[in-house]
Amino acid sequence: MHILITGGAGFIGSHTGRALLAKGHRVRVLDSMKPPVHKDGKPFNMPEGAELVLGDVTNKEDMTRALDGIDAVYHLAAYQDYLPDFSTFFTVNAAGTALLYEIIVEKNLPIQKVVVASSQAAYGEGKYRSQAGEIFYPDIRSVATLEGGAFEIMGPDGLVAESLVTDEAVIKPQNQYAMSKYTQEMIALNLGKRYDIPSVAMRYSIVQGPGQSLYNAYSGACRVFCLSLHFDHRPPVYEDGLQKRDYVNVGDVVAANVLVLEKEAANYEMFNVGGGKAYTVLDFARLAAQVYEKDLEPELTGAFRFGDTRHIVSDITKLKALGWAPQHTPEKSVRDYKAWLEDMDNVDDVLAYAQERMKSLNVVRAVKK
Ligand SMILES: NC(=O)c1ccc[n+]([C@@H]2O[C@H](COP(=O)([O-])OP(=O)(O)OC[C@H]3O[C@@H](n4cnc5c(N)ncnc54)[C@H](O)[C@@H]3O)[C@@H](O)[C@H]2O)c1
Repeated sequence: MHILITGGAGFIGSHTGRALLAKGHRVRVLDSMKPPVHKDGKPFNMPEGAELVLGDVTNKEDMTRALDGIDAVYHLAAYQDYLPDFSTFFTVNAAGTALLYEIIVEKNLPIQKVVVASSQAAYGEGKYRSQAGEIFYPDIRSVATLEGGAFEIMGPDGLVAESLVTDEAVIKPQNQYAMSKYTQEMIALNLGKRYDIPSVAMRYSIVQGPGQSLYNAYSGACRVFCLSLHFDHRPPVYEDGLQKRDYVNVGDVVAANVLVLEKEAANYEMFNVGGGKAYTVLDFARLAAQVYEKDLEPELTGAFRFGDTRHIVSDITKLKALGWAPQHTPEKSVRDYKAWLEDMDNVDDVLAYAQERMKSLNVVRAVKK
């Protein structure tokens, strides 16, 4: 197949591109190569052997050029950040996806599959059970509560509720990124179905592994903990560090991407792509320190991150039924990321840059109790 990967010079796209090339497919990448991922516009991560179309997913000419002669599309390019330029999220993530379908329909392109990258973020706080046994999907945690140091979600009965693994059934996006990703999904699945363009939405959990931008404020714990440990700092942890996450290795995400390309049963479906196991952030920080063989305990910063969810762990039953299961551990993600970092020349300025950026975005806020 001749496959287009938008955002193919990014983290997940480049790994997916390499896997597709290894399977004998032809790969074309459409990427804008812009900062922050590509600092100073320098290409980073292009899969060797792929063709590059330098362009933007919001530009009709670029997209039309990129789609010429293509059989399948991975639509991975996205705007991901904490910035309050809300409209950009919808311009890139939602309108960019609508443009993709517009061109396919307008030019009657014989596209056999479109895979779009959605996100676990679409669940917001995810699924909970109150102590009275009621299932509910919590609203946004208030800044006042977080500033008061109360992090857990309360049920309608006013008691601390239990976080459950979240399946695909109920969506509750609560920030600009999540809403734009859910909109992207709806565009792909509904227009796909209406116009017979087999489409699949992948809701990735936190993806980890080498090649993840050092400069993207959105890329999370693996980058921050590895960078801290690299410079002999304690890994900084927000809230009380007991937040649960299901980190997924990029190799498993690539396997999921390849699987849904090949399986007809995946068409017009959305799938969680998670690690299958819950870790607290503290567990993960300790695991990273072990990999680094450094006696550096996580540091509770006395702060919280504006917009973070408390616990979120995806139920991966649906994708497993299609023949996929995670094969790699978060320990492998850290080991591989560490090796990748150690191979790099310009690591020095990154941590300071990242901290400065988080501060300037007012993302990290103090607990005042
Ligand atoms: N990494 C994660 O943990 C994670 C989790 C859930 C969902 N996702 C989704 O997976 C996809 C890939 O994520 P990633 O981590 O590889 O991101 P990334 O930032 O490493 O890669 C994205 C690529 O898209 C390109 N790009 C951005 N805007 C563009 C535009 N307007 N036109 C053309 N190219 C553009 C960037 O230059 C970059 O190379 C995204 O859609 C993201 O929302 C990622």
